[in-house]
This record gives sequence, structure tokens and C-alpha cells, in this order.
Amino acid sequence: MSAEPTESTLRDVADEREFTIGTAIDPDSLRRDPSYWKTASSEFNAVTPENALKMGPLRPSRHTYDFRDADAVVNFGRENDMTVRGHTLVWHNQKPEWFQAWDYTDEQLRQFLREHIHTVVGRYRETVDAWDVVNEAVADDGSMRRTVWSDALGEDYLEEAFTWAREVNPDADLYYNDYGADEINEKSDAIYDLLEGLLERDVPIDGVGLQLHALGDHPDPDSIAENIERFRDLGLEVQITEMDVAFHADDVPADALEIQADYYREVVEACLEAGCDTIVTWDVHDANSWLRSFKDFGERYSGDPLLFDDRYERKPAYYAVRDALEE
Ligand code: XIL
Repeated sequence: MSAEPTESTLRDVADEREFTIGTAIDPDSLRRDPSYWKTASSEFNAVTPENALKMGPLRPSRHTYDFRDADAVVNFGRENDMTVRGHTLVWHNQKPEWFQAWDYTDEQLRQFLREHIHTVVGRYRETVDAWDVVNEAVADDGSMRRTVWSDALGEDYLEEAFTWAREVNPDADLYYNDYGADEINEKSDAIYDLLEGLLERDVPIDGVGLQLHALGDHPDPDSIAENIERFRDLGLEVQITEMDVAFHADDVPADALEIQADYYREVVEACLEAGCDTIVTWDVHDANSWLRSFKDFGERYSGDPLLFDDRYERKPAYYAVRDALEE
């Protein structure tokens, strides 16, 4: 009697064609839930710490670091032969709360950021393959977002941040990452100009991350492909870094899971066609999606945007991604 052939996992299929299929990871779930651990390691070949490498979680006070959660996720990735994306060094959100009470000078903030980047990138020199050096620096209308960083360091802070990261890790791929810039639009045009300018000035940037939080409105896959192609023509790598697919809560179609699956498939196809080799989903299973817990998103969007359901069952979207990668 011959045994039933075991079904390929998403990871098997991705490995086979050298595609990176990743997931955001929450360290508490890793510690407490063996199914989480098992699904993440068998179905994905890359990880991004969902929050643990952000400045707030990492910096309990001005002169200290707490690397426990970040280490847990990075080590999990390495132990399971997964690629690790570091997210993120410079962002206007999830800053340490004690910032509010800190009466810093511009130069102090600049030195703080420099030391932060040197320390964090340095610690993970051997273990993090790619960094989202700067996250969401462009506002929705395409202007540069005013943040504590742009206020203190000036608009050239991107140039400095990328240079500091490169100083301590010559090998990691350094990314600019943003949302709402997945297709060709005002914001992606602005990011295109911004990154073109950085490249002209020899700033060490290797790629652009398109988050692709398809919440309610789903960016057009053809336009995503065109967008990926134009960034690649600049000489940049393009990765889809935080994908999830939801619907407006007051307008969820009856066949939502099938529409979601079709959309995931079209995005994988657009990505492959345009020469992008990485898609990361924004956590493993629906129960862990940020849409369930972030602000009022739970009321605004349907809360099952990922490839696995609350019980780690494979959803139609899972099979759609696997099939698209298998073709
Ligand atoms: C989100 C996390 O998923 C949440 O757990 C957290 O409360 C807020 O941040 N863009 C990003 C990610 O770059 O870091 C965000 O992650 C989602 C939007």
C-alpha cells in the first residue's frame, strides 16, 4: 500500500520557484500557540516582526533597549531557514511614549536616531536580510509628511537614515516602505520622484516596499504591475510587504472569500509578471490581523483578510496564492 502523497505547502511551492512568501509575526503568539509556530514555519519562508523592531517597543527609555521580542522573532526566522525583514527604523508612529516628555534639541534627536540605527542594524547584522529603513515618509497627497524626524533633521533625513544603516550593514537590502502607493497614483508618483532623487545622489537604497493593505478599495492589479515595473526600471527591487485583503464592513459581498481569493491570485500574478519576488502577508491567520484590534478598523473593515482562518484552516485565498505560484 502506498501512502497518500502529502500536499505541498505554500512554502514548498514558493521555494520551488525561489519566491519569498512571508508573514508578519507576533512574538506572544509564537510563545503561546504551537499552531501559530507550526503554520508560520511550514507555510512561509520569510518573517517580518510585526511590531517588535519598531522604536517604541524597542526603547523603554532614552538609553536602553529591550530586544527580547525582536530576538524571539528574528531567531524563529533563522532557526527555520526563513528570510528576515526588519521593520522599521524611522517612522512617525509607534515612537516611545517618553518622547513626549523629552525636551530635545534637533541635534540631540539626530544623534539619538543615528545611535538607534547603528545599534539595531548592528545587532542584527548577520540575521536581518532587508530593512525598512524609512516607513511612510510621504503624505497621502504626495507631499513630504511632517514628522518629528523631518522637523529635527530636515527633509534630508532619509539620506542620513539610509547612510547610517549602510555604515553598519553593507550587505542588507535597504528599503523605503509605504502604503497607498501600490498602484500608479499621486502618492506613488511622489515616491517615485523621491527615490529617483535619492538614487541620483547615490543614497544607498536598494528597494521599495509596497504595503498593499487592500482595505475596502482594492488597487488595480494591472496598475500595480506597471508601478512595480517603473520602480524596477529605476534599478530598485520591489517587494509587497504587508498584504491583507478586506472589505468595507457595510459592503461585504456574499462571496467575499472567493473575491478575496481572486484578488490575492491577481496580485501574485501581477507581482510575478512585473518581476517582484516577495509577498509578505500581515500576519499568519485572521485571528491575529491588526484589523481586529487597530483603532476603529474593526468597525470599518471585514476582519478576515489573511490566508488562514481563525482556526488555521487554509482559506480559498491560500489555495489561490499557492496555485498561482505553482503555475
Ligand atoms: C500595525 C500592526 O499590525 C499593529 O499591531 C499595530 O498596532 C500598528 O501597526 N503600516 C505599517 C505597519 O507599516 O507597521 C502597521 O502595523 C500597519 C500599517
